[in-house]
Amino acid sequence: MSPAQRRNFEELAPRYCVPFQQSETDLRLAFPHYDRPLIIEIGFGMGETTAAIAAARPESNFVGIEVYRPGVGKLLGRIHADGLENLRIIVHDAVEVLATMVADEQIDGVHVFFPDPWPKKRHYKRRLIQPGFVNLLRAKLRPGAYVYLVTDWQDYAAQMLEVFETAAGFRNPYRGFCPRQPWRPETSFERKGRSQAHSIHNLWLERTE
Ligand SMILES: C[S@@+](CC[C@H](N)C(=O)[O-])C[C@H]1O[C@@H](n2cnc3c(N)ncnc32)[C@H](O)[C@@H]1O
Repeated sequence: MSPAQRRNFEELAPRYCVPFQQSETDLRLAFPHYDRPLIIEIGFGMGETTAAIAAARPESNFVGIEVYRPGVGKLLGRIHADGLENLRIIVHDAVEVLATMVADEQIDGVHVFFPDPWPKKRHYKRRLIQPGFVNLLRAKLRPGAYVYLVTDWQDYAAQMLEVFETAAGFRNPYRGFCPRQPWRPETSFERKGRSQAHSIHNLWLERTE
């Protein structure tokens, strides 16, 4: 961590982080506006996109879950500097957070942007988007809630599509991949890759009733 990230962590985590706990927690209590839709982001990295989306969508509450402490330190600084009342952080493994802290049908949306690709075939089983995880996700989402995934790995994109096509309880209103949602800022990395056409895949699913 840089000195600033470390300082943010020490000074701001008690204010803007929700501590991990081994029992169900009403995450909406972490926000001044309890009744707003609750959106979870898994693996926000350095958090630039997370902060921009929270600022662009003040009508929703966002919880970013990340284990990478320099990124947490950085995003804590943004939350504080920008006064983002609708963004909080959990520093823990996201799968465990969903399984233990989040009650069924509590979430209105999930963002997974550029998850670790694990490009070697023998490591595919470490990828986040797997049938077991998608079943867990379905249980935590309210009917009508959305899942928004983005990846720059073609074969991971194909895997995501297949896993959600075969999972029960989801519909894909776009049938296949979708355009970038206008409220998700394009990263510099994406801008660079745009010339290579279809290198970025966006996928949008909705939980059925
Ligand atoms: C490739 S980075 C992408 C970061 C960011 N979403 C972006 O678009 O720049 C993937 C991030 O997911 C985080 N991550 C991976 N598995 C996780 C898990 N189970 N729980 C929380 N964070 C996770 C990693 O620490 C890493 O920061």
